[in-house]
Amino acid sequence: MKQAVSMAMAAGLVLTSAMAQGEVKKDSWGKSADGQPLFLYTLHDAQLTVKLTNFGAHVVSIDAPDKNGNVADVVLGFKDVAGYENPKNTSYMGAIVGRYGNRIANGRFSLDGKSYEIPTNNNGNALHGGKVGFDQKVWQGKELPNGVEFTLVSPDGDMGFPGKLTAHVKYTLVGSSLHIDYTATTDKDTVVNLTNHSYFNLAGEGSGTVLDEQMMIAADATTPVNATLIPTGKLAPVAGTPFDFNKPHTIGERIHAADQQLKTAGGYDHNFVLSAKTNTLHLVAKAVDPKSGRTLTVTSTEPGVQFYSGNFLDGTLTGISGKAYVKNGGFCLETQHFPDSPNQPSFPSTELKPGETMHSSTVFTFSVTK
Ligand code: GLA
Repeated sequence: MKQAVSMAMAAGLVLTSAMAQGEVKKDSWGKSADGQPLFLYTLHDAQLTVKLTNFGAHVVSIDAPDKNGNVADVVLGFKDVAGYENPKNTSYMGAIVGRYGNRIANGRFSLDGKSYEIPTNNNGNALHGGKVGFDQKVWQGKELPNGVEFTLVSPDGDMGFPGKLTAHVKYTLVGSSLHIDYTATTDKDTVVNLTNHSYFNLAGEGSGTVLDEQMMIAADATTPVNATLIPTGKLAPVAGTPFDFNKPHTIGERIHAADQQLKTAGGYDHNFVLSAKTNTLHLVAKAVDPKSGRTLTVTSTEPGVQFYSGNFLDGTLTGISGKAYVKNGGFCLETQHFPDSPNQPSFPSTELKPGETMHSSTVFTFSVTK
C-alpha cells in the first residue's frame, strides 16, 4: 500500500515537472450519467497544481507545498465523476453553486410582483439552486493562458428561476493564487448568487479534522439564522462571541461553546458580514495549519462569506485518495451575497436585470507560515 502511494506520488511528480509553468493540460474524464463528455483540466505554476472539471465547474484538487516543500492536496474531492454524481453526495465539494448559492426560504421569492418557486431540497428551503443546481450541470470549458473559462446557459425557468442566465466562471492560476472570476447576464429580471464550495484541509485531504487549523475572518457581524438556517434578517455583532475571528482562533477552540447559533447549525455554518464595504477585492479570511505551515488567504469582491466547518460530513464519503471524509474534515469559505437576500430587503441586492452584467471575483492565495 505504502509503495503504491509513493509510486502514485512519483507519477504525479513526473506529470507536474513535465508541465511548463502556465500550461493547461486537458484530459478526457469519461462521461456524465447523461452521456456528455467530461474533461479534467490541469493548471500548473511554480508552486501549485490545480485540477478542474467541466462537470459542475468543480475544483477537484489543489496540490500545495508545506513549509518543508512537501506537497499535499489541500481540497476535498473525488477521483471520478461518479463521486460527484452520487446522490448520497450532498456536500457540493469543490462545486460552483448556483443559480442561487446558499438558501432561499421555503424556495419562494417574488420579483417585480411575480412569485417564483424553486424546488426545495434542504429542510423545506432551496439550497444552492434547488434540486438540480449548477453543480450537477456539464459546463462548456475553454482553455486560456494559465486557466479555464467555464460557461453555462441556464434556460428561463430552470429550477423555477426567471430569465435565461448565461454564467461564466474563469479560473486562472497567477503565481500562488487561484483567481475565480464570475460574470452573469440575463434576458429577464432574476436573482443570482454564485460561489465556489471547496472544502479546504491545509494538512491534506483525508488527514482528519480541521479543528486545529487557525482561522481569521475579517468580519464584525454575522447574519444569525433560525432553526432551518434561514437568516432572521438581523445582523449580530461578533464581539464577545465564538464568532469573533478578527484575531485568529483554531476552528475547534469554541465550536462546542454554549452558543445557540452554534448548536442550531452543529458548528459554524453562518454568513459573516465582511468588514470591508467595497466591491473591489478585500480581505475575507486567512487560515493556517500550524503543523505544515500551509496558509490560505482569501480575498473577494463579495460582501459576505459562509464559513462552514464541514458539520455534515460524517465519514460516509470516500475521497480522491481513498480516505473517508470525517465530520469537520474540511472548512468552506463560500464568498457570497447573503443567504435569502431575495426575501430580505435590507440585505445587498442579488437582482440582475437585462443589460447588466454581474461581476464577482474571489482569490485563494497559498503561502507558508514558518
Ligand atoms: C452549505 C450549507 C451547509 C451545507 C453545505 C453542504 O455550506 O450552508 O449547511 O448544506 O452547504 O453540505
